[in-house]
Amino acid sequence: MLVTGGAGYIGSHAAKALAAAGYTVVAFDSLVAGHRAAAKFGPLVEGDIADLQAVRAALKAHDIFAVMHFAAFLDVGESVREPSKYYRNNVAGAVTLLEAMAAESVRHFVFSSTCATYGEPIETPIAETHPQNPINSYGESKLAVERALPHFERAHGMHWAALRYFNAAGADPDGEIGEDHSPEIHLIPRAIEAATGACGLQVFGDDYPTPDGTCLRDYIHVTDLADAHVRALEAIVETGKSGAYNLGTGHPHSVREVIDTVQRVSGRAVPWTLGPRRPGDPAVLYAAPKKARAELHWTPRYADLEAIVRTAWNWHQAHPHGYGEE
Ligand SMILES: NC(=O)c1ccc[n+]([C@@H]2O[C@H](COP(=O)([O-])OP(=O)(O)OC[C@H]3O[C@@H](n4cnc5c(N)ncnc54)[C@H](O)[C@@H]3O)[C@@H](O)[C@H]2O)c1
Repeated sequence: MLVTGGAGYIGSHAAKALAAAGYTVVAFDSLVAGHRAAAKFGPLVEGDIADLQAVRAALKAHDIFAVMHFAAFLDVGESVREPSKYYRNNVAGAVTLLEAMAAESVRHFVFSSTCATYGEPIETPIAETHPQNPINSYGESKLAVERALPHFERAHGMHWAALRYFNAAGADPDGEIGEDHSPEIHLIPRAIEAATGACGLQVFGDDYPTPDGTCLRDYIHVTDLADAHVRALEAIVETGKSGAYNLGTGHPHSVREVIDTVQRVSGRAVPWTLGPRRPGDPAVLYAAPKKARAELHWTPRYADLEAIVRTAWNWHQAHPHGYGEE
Protein backbone atom coordinates (compact mmCIF):
# COMPACT_ATOMS: atom_id res chain seq x y z
CA MET A 1 0.00 0.00 0.00
CA LEU A 2 1.27 3.48 -0.80
CA VAL A 3 -0.08 6.11 1.58
CA THR A 4 0.53 9.61 0.24
CA GLY A 5 0.53 12.07 3.12
CA GLY A 6 1.44 9.13 5.38
CA ALA A 7 3.43 11.46 7.67
CA GLY A 8 0.35 13.65 8.21
CA TYR A 9 -2.47 13.47 10.72
CA ILE A 10 -5.06 11.22 9.06
CA GLY A 11 -2.59 9.43 6.76
CA SER A 12 -0.50 8.22 9.72
CA HIS A 13 -3.60 6.86 11.46
CA ALA A 14 -4.63 5.09 8.24
CA ALA A 15 -1.11 3.66 7.94
CA LYS A 16 -1.40 2.29 11.47
CA ALA A 17 -4.79 0.70 10.68
CA LEU A 18 -3.46 -0.80 7.44
CA ALA A 19 -0.38 -2.24 9.18
CA ALA A 20 -2.64 -3.70 11.90
CA ALA A 21 -4.79 -5.30 9.16
CA GLY A 22 -1.69 -6.99 7.74
CA TYR A 23 -0.79 -4.69 4.84
CA THR A 24 2.75 -3.58 4.10
CA VAL A 25 2.62 0.19 4.18
CA VAL A 26 4.88 2.68 2.44
CA ALA A 27 4.38 6.37 3.25
CA PHE A 28 5.02 8.86 0.46
CA ASP A 29 5.29 12.39 1.84
CA SER A 30 7.19 15.58 1.07
CA LEU A 31 7.04 16.54 4.77
CA VAL A 32 5.72 19.96 3.72
CA ALA A 33 3.25 19.64 6.60
CA GLY A 34 3.94 16.16 7.96
CA HIS A 35 6.29 14.68 10.52
CA ARG A 36 8.93 12.03 10.00
CA ALA A 37 8.09 10.61 13.44
CA ALA A 38 4.46 10.04 12.39
CA ALA A 39 5.49 7.78 9.49
CA LYS A 40 6.35 4.88 11.75
CA PHE A 41 4.35 2.02 10.26
CA GLY A 42 6.64 1.27 7.33
CA PRO A 43 9.26 2.97 5.19
CA LEU A 44 8.92 6.65 4.33
CA VAL A 45 9.66 7.73 0.76
CA GLU A 46 10.32 11.46 0.82
CA GLY A 47 8.95 12.96 -2.35
CA ASP A 48 6.36 15.20 -3.93
CA ILE A 49 3.27 13.78 -5.63
CA ALA A 50 3.88 16.35 -8.39
CA ASP A 51 7.06 14.44 -9.32
CA LEU A 52 5.80 11.81 -11.78
CA GLN A 53 9.09 9.92 -11.95
CA ALA A 54 9.46 9.81 -8.15
CA VAL A 55 5.92 8.47 -7.73
CA ARG A 56 6.40 5.88 -10.49
CA ALA A 57 9.69 4.79 -8.94
CA ALA A 58 8.04 4.36 -5.52
CA LEU A 59 5.13 2.38 -7.00
CA LYS A 60 7.54 0.11 -8.85
CA ALA A 61 10.18 -0.30 -6.13
CA HIS A 62 7.62 -1.32 -3.51
CA ASP A 63 5.40 -3.37 -5.81
CA ILE A 64 2.37 -1.28 -4.83
CA PHE A 65 -1.13 -2.63 -5.51
CA ALA A 66 -3.22 0.23 -4.07
CA VAL A 67 -2.86 3.89 -3.14
CA MET A 68 -4.51 5.86 -0.36
CA HIS A 69 -4.20 9.52 -1.18
CA PHE A 70 -4.13 11.97 1.74
CA ALA A 71 -1.43 14.39 0.50
CA ALA A 72 -3.03 17.81 0.02
CA PHE A 73 -3.39 21.26 1.49
CA LEU A 74 -6.52 21.77 3.59
CA ASP A 75 -6.81 25.26 5.01
CA VAL A 76 -10.08 26.67 3.66
CA GLY A 77 -9.17 30.30 4.45
CA GLU A 78 -5.80 29.97 2.75
CA SER A 79 -7.48 28.37 -0.26
CA VAL A 80 -9.60 31.50 -0.67
CA ARG A 81 -6.51 33.72 -0.60
CA GLU A 82 -4.25 31.45 -2.67
CA PRO A 83 -6.31 29.30 -5.03
CA SER A 84 -3.29 28.49 -7.22
CA LYS A 85 -1.63 26.69 -4.29
CA TYR A 86 -4.71 24.47 -3.96
CA TYR A 87 -5.24 23.78 -7.64
CA ARG A 88 -1.54 22.99 -8.06
CA ASN A 89 -1.15 20.64 -5.11
CA ASN A 90 -4.60 19.15 -4.71
CA VAL A 91 -5.66 18.92 -8.36
CA ALA A 92 -2.49 18.84 -10.48
CA GLY A 93 -0.69 16.78 -7.81
CA ALA A 94 -3.51 14.23 -7.68
CA VAL A 95 -3.67 13.98 -11.47
CA THR A 96 0.07 13.34 -11.58
CA LEU A 97 -0.36 10.61 -8.99
CA LEU A 98 -3.19 9.03 -11.01
CA GLU A 99 -1.05 9.24 -14.14
CA ALA A 100 1.78 7.44 -12.34
CA MET A 101 -0.66 4.78 -11.14
CA ALA A 102 -2.00 4.26 -14.66
CA ALA A 103 1.55 3.97 -16.01
CA GLU A 104 2.45 1.37 -13.35
CA SER A 105 -0.89 -0.48 -13.61
CA VAL A 106 -1.92 0.25 -10.01
CA ARG A 107 -5.70 0.00 -10.03
CA HIS A 108 -7.06 0.74 -6.55
CA PHE A 109 -7.38 4.25 -5.21
CA VAL A 110 -8.85 5.55 -1.96
CA PHE A 111 -9.19 9.31 -1.95
CA SER A 112 -9.46 11.80 0.95
CA SER A 113 -12.35 13.99 -0.02
CA THR A 114 -14.36 16.30 2.16
CA CYS A 115 -17.79 17.60 3.08
CA ALA A 116 -16.49 20.94 1.72
CA THR A 117 -17.38 19.56 -1.73
CA TYR A 118 -21.06 20.06 -0.84
CA GLY A 119 -20.78 23.79 -0.13
CA GLU A 120 -23.71 25.50 1.59
CA PRO A 121 -26.12 22.65 2.45
CA ILE A 122 -29.64 22.85 1.12
CA GLU A 123 -30.67 20.13 3.57
CA THR A 124 -29.18 18.31 6.55
CA PRO A 125 -28.16 15.67 7.30
CA ILE A 126 -26.12 15.61 4.10
CA ALA A 127 -26.35 12.45 2.03
CA GLU A 128 -23.97 11.52 -0.81
CA THR A 129 -26.67 12.54 -3.28
CA HIS A 130 -26.71 16.13 -2.00
CA PRO A 131 -25.64 18.55 -4.80
CA GLN A 132 -21.94 19.38 -4.77
CA ASN A 133 -21.44 23.14 -5.08
CA PRO A 134 -18.24 24.07 -3.23
CA ILE A 135 -17.87 27.66 -2.07
CA ASN A 136 -14.06 27.77 -1.82
CA SER A 137 -11.12 26.54 -3.88
CA TYR A 138 -10.28 23.85 -1.30
CA GLY A 139 -13.68 22.21 -1.86
CA GLU A 140 -13.42 22.80 -5.62
CA SER A 141 -9.98 21.16 -5.70
CA LYS A 142 -11.29 18.02 -4.00
CA LEU A 143 -14.38 17.91 -6.21
CA ALA A 144 -12.21 18.25 -9.33
CA VAL A 145 -10.36 15.07 -8.31
CA GLU A 146 -13.60 13.25 -7.50
CA ARG A 147 -14.84 14.16 -10.98
CA ALA A 148 -11.63 12.90 -12.58
CA LEU A 149 -11.93 9.46 -10.99
CA PRO A 150 -14.66 7.94 -13.23
CA HIS A 151 -12.58 9.00 -16.25
CA PHE A 152 -9.52 7.18 -14.92
CA GLU A 153 -11.75 4.21 -14.17
CA ARG A 154 -13.03 4.13 -17.75
CA ALA A 155 -9.63 4.63 -19.34
CA HIS A 156 -7.42 2.58 -17.02
CA GLY A 157 -9.72 0.20 -15.12
CA MET A 158 -9.03 2.00 -11.85
CA HIS A 159 -11.40 1.26 -8.95
CA TRP A 160 -11.83 4.04 -6.44
CA ALA A 161 -13.53 5.21 -3.28
CA ALA A 162 -13.90 8.91 -2.49
CA LEU A 163 -14.33 9.33 1.26
CA ARG A 164 -15.93 12.63 2.22
CA TYR A 165 -14.89 13.31 5.78
CA PHE A 166 -16.66 15.75 8.02
CA ASN A 167 -14.49 17.14 10.88
CA ALA A 168 -11.61 14.77 11.64
CA ALA A 169 -10.71 14.86 15.32
CA GLY A 170 -9.09 12.95 18.18
CA ALA A 171 -5.90 10.96 18.31
CA ASP A 172 -4.75 7.37 18.31
CA PRO A 173 -6.17 5.84 21.53
CA ASP A 174 -2.80 4.08 22.07
CA GLY A 175 -1.12 7.49 22.10
CA GLU A 176 1.41 6.59 19.37
CA ILE A 177 0.37 9.36 16.94
CA GLY A 178 -1.83 12.43 17.02
CA GLU A 179 -2.68 15.79 15.50
CA ASP A 180 0.13 18.31 14.99
CA HIS A 181 -0.75 20.97 12.42
CA SER A 182 1.10 24.25 12.20
CA PRO A 183 -0.70 26.58 12.32
CA GLU A 184 -3.49 24.63 14.00
CA ILE A 185 -6.85 25.48 12.41
CA HIS A 186 -9.13 22.84 13.95
CA LEU A 187 -11.41 23.56 16.88
CA ILE A 188 -10.63 20.71 19.29
CA PRO A 189 -6.81 21.10 19.31
CA ARG A 190 -7.22 24.89 19.43
CA ALA A 191 -9.54 24.61 22.43
CA ILE A 192 -7.01 22.27 24.07
CA GLU A 193 -4.24 24.78 23.42
CA ALA A 194 -6.43 27.48 24.96
CA ALA A 195 -6.99 25.26 28.02
CA THR A 196 -3.24 24.94 28.47
CA GLY A 197 -2.69 28.68 27.99
CA ALA A 198 -0.76 28.18 24.75
CA CYS A 199 -3.04 30.44 22.70
CA GLY A 200 -6.36 32.22 22.73
CA LEU A 201 -9.52 30.88 21.14
CA GLN A 202 -11.92 32.86 19.05
CA VAL A 203 -15.48 31.68 18.40
CA PHE A 204 -16.72 32.87 15.02
CA GLY A 205 -20.27 34.00 15.65
CA ASP A 206 -22.91 33.07 18.23
CA ASP A 207 -25.99 34.28 16.38
CA TYR A 208 -26.52 31.29 14.08
CA PRO A 209 -29.96 29.65 13.98
CA THR A 210 -28.80 26.78 16.23
CA PRO A 211 -29.81 25.96 19.83
CA ASP A 212 -26.87 27.87 21.41
CA GLY A 213 -26.13 30.18 18.48
CA THR A 214 -22.78 28.59 17.53
CA CYS A 215 -22.14 26.41 14.48
CA LEU A 216 -22.92 22.70 14.53
CA ARG A 217 -20.37 20.28 13.10
CA ASP A 218 -19.94 16.50 12.83
CA TYR A 219 -16.73 15.40 14.60
CA ILE A 220 -15.45 12.02 13.49
CA HIS A 221 -12.61 10.23 15.27
CA VAL A 222 -9.48 9.81 13.20
CA THR A 223 -9.22 6.12 14.16
CA ASP A 224 -12.74 5.59 12.83
CA LEU A 225 -11.73 7.35 9.61
CA ALA A 226 -8.71 5.05 9.38
CA ASP A 227 -10.94 2.00 9.85
CA ALA A 228 -13.28 3.24 7.10
CA HIS A 229 -10.30 3.51 4.72
CA VAL A 230 -9.34 -0.12 5.26
CA ARG A 231 -12.97 -1.17 4.71
CA ALA A 232 -13.29 0.98 1.59
CA LEU A 233 -10.12 -0.50 0.15
CA GLU A 234 -11.32 -4.04 0.82
CA ALA A 235 -14.72 -3.26 -0.68
CA ILE A 236 -13.31 -1.96 -3.95
CA VAL A 237 -10.85 -4.85 -4.19
CA GLU A 238 -13.61 -7.42 -3.56
CA THR A 239 -16.45 -5.91 -5.54
CA GLY A 240 -14.75 -3.67 -8.10
CA LYS A 241 -17.49 -1.17 -7.32
CA SER A 242 -16.36 2.45 -7.05
CA GLY A 243 -18.21 5.13 -5.13
CA ALA A 244 -18.31 8.05 -2.73
CA TYR A 245 -19.07 7.75 0.98
CA ASN A 246 -19.73 10.27 3.72
CA LEU A 247 -17.73 9.66 6.88
CA GLY A 248 -19.30 11.28 9.93
CA THR A 249 -21.20 10.21 13.02
CA GLY A 250 -24.45 11.86 11.96
CA HIS A 251 -24.61 13.62 15.36
CA PRO A 252 -23.53 17.26 15.25
CA HIS A 253 -22.08 19.22 18.18
CA SER A 254 -21.91 22.98 18.62
CA VAL A 255 -18.75 24.99 19.16
CA ARG A 256 -19.90 25.70 22.73
CA GLU A 257 -20.43 21.99 23.38
CA VAL A 258 -16.88 21.31 22.20
CA ILE A 259 -15.53 24.00 24.52
CA ASP A 260 -17.55 22.61 27.44
CA THR A 261 -16.32 19.09 26.70
CA VAL A 262 -12.67 20.22 26.59
CA GLN A 263 -13.21 21.97 29.94
CA ARG A 264 -14.74 18.84 31.45
CA VAL A 265 -12.10 16.45 30.11
CA SER A 266 -9.13 18.69 30.93
CA GLY A 267 -10.46 20.01 34.21
CA ARG A 268 -9.34 23.48 33.05
CA ALA A 269 -11.07 26.60 31.85
CA VAL A 270 -11.03 27.29 28.11
CA PRO A 271 -10.86 31.07 27.71
CA TRP A 272 -12.43 32.29 24.48
CA THR A 273 -13.51 35.51 22.86
CA LEU A 274 -16.36 36.12 20.48
CA GLY A 275 -15.47 37.16 16.95
CA PRO A 276 -17.59 37.86 13.89
CA ARG A 277 -19.00 35.13 11.67
CA ARG A 278 -16.56 33.87 9.03
CA PRO A 279 -17.83 34.20 5.48
CA GLY A 280 -18.79 30.83 4.05
CA ASP A 281 -19.32 29.04 7.40
CA PRO A 282 -22.66 27.22 7.16
CA ALA A 283 -24.66 27.10 10.44
CA VAL A 284 -25.06 23.33 10.38
CA LEU A 285 -23.04 20.59 8.70
CA TYR A 286 -23.49 16.92 9.47
CA ALA A 287 -23.46 13.67 7.63
CA ALA A 288 -26.06 11.11 6.78
CA PRO A 289 -23.58 8.23 7.15
CA LYS A 290 -26.02 5.44 6.16
CA LYS A 291 -24.28 4.45 2.93
CA ALA A 292 -20.91 3.76 4.62
CA ARG A 293 -22.72 1.77 7.31
CA ALA A 294 -24.64 -0.32 4.80
CA GLU A 295 -21.98 -0.89 2.15
CA LEU A 296 -18.71 -0.74 4.14
CA HIS A 297 -20.22 -2.16 7.36
CA TRP A 298 -18.58 0.76 9.11
CA THR A 299 -19.75 2.04 12.48
CA PRO A 300 -17.75 4.68 14.35
CA ARG A 301 -16.43 3.30 17.65
CA TYR A 302 -15.62 6.72 19.13
CA ALA A 303 -18.90 8.40 18.26
CA ASP A 304 -19.15 10.16 21.59
CA LEU A 305 -17.64 13.68 21.69
CA GLU A 306 -16.12 13.12 25.12
CA ALA A 307 -14.24 10.03 23.91
CA ILE A 308 -12.94 12.00 20.93
CA VAL A 309 -11.78 14.92 23.08
CA ARG A 310 -10.23 12.59 25.66
CA THR A 311 -7.92 10.94 23.08
CA ALA A 312 -6.93 14.38 21.74
CA TRP A 313 -6.29 15.65 25.28
CA ASN A 314 -4.21 12.58 26.19
CA TRP A 315 -2.07 13.02 23.06
CA HIS A 316 -1.60 16.71 23.77
CA GLN A 317 -0.66 16.08 27.41
CA ALA A 318 1.95 13.51 26.39
CA HIS A 319 3.22 15.67 23.48
CA PRO A 320 2.74 19.34 24.40
CA HIS A 321 4.96 20.32 21.47
CA GLY A 322 3.49 17.80 19.04
CA TYR A 323 6.17 15.76 17.30
CA GLY A 324 8.67 18.39 18.42
CA GLU A 325 10.75 18.38 15.24
CA GLU A 326 10.47 22.07 14.47
N1 LIG B 1 -8.35 17.18 8.87
C1 LIG B 1 -9.63 17.23 8.49
O1 LIG B 1 -10.52 17.56 9.28
C2 LIG B 1 -10.01 16.84 7.08
C3 LIG B 1 -11.37 16.88 6.72
C4 LIG B 1 -11.74 16.51 5.42
C5 LIG B 1 -10.76 16.08 4.53
N2 LIG B 1 -9.45 16.05 4.91
C6 LIG B 1 -8.46 15.61 3.93
O2 LIG B 1 -7.66 14.61 4.52
C7 LIG B 1 -6.34 14.65 4.01
C8 LIG B 1 -5.35 14.61 5.14
O3 LIG B 1 -5.60 15.69 6.04
P1 LIG B 1 -4.70 15.85 7.35
O4 LIG B 1 -5.51 16.59 8.35
O5 LIG B 1 -4.09 14.54 7.70
O6 LIG B 1 -3.57 16.85 6.78
P2 LIG B 1 -2.01 16.87 7.09
O7 LIG B 1 -1.51 18.20 6.64
O8 LIG B 1 -1.75 16.47 8.50
O9 LIG B 1 -1.45 15.75 6.15
C9 LIG B 1 -1.21 15.94 4.78
C10 LIG B 1 0.14 15.33 4.47
O10 LIG B 1 0.38 15.44 3.08
C11 LIG B 1 1.71 15.86 2.86
N3 LIG B 1 1.73 16.54 1.56
C12 LIG B 1 1.07 17.67 1.20
N4 LIG B 1 1.33 17.95 -0.09
C13 LIG B 1 2.19 17.00 -0.56
C14 LIG B 1 2.79 16.73 -1.79
N5 LIG B 1 2.63 17.55 -2.85
N6 LIG B 1 3.57 15.64 -1.93
C15 LIG B 1 3.76 14.81 -0.88
N7 LIG B 1 3.23 15.01 0.33
C16 LIG B 1 2.45 16.09 0.49
C17 LIG B 1 2.04 16.75 4.04
O11 LIG B 1 3.44 16.83 4.30
C18 LIG B 1 1.29 16.05 5.18
O12 LIG B 1 2.10 15.09 5.81
C19 LIG B 1 -6.26 15.90 3.13
O13 LIG B 1 -6.34 15.48 1.79
C20 LIG B 1 -7.49 16.69 3.55
O14 LIG B 1 -7.96 17.45 2.47
C21 LIG B 1 -9.06 16.42 6.16
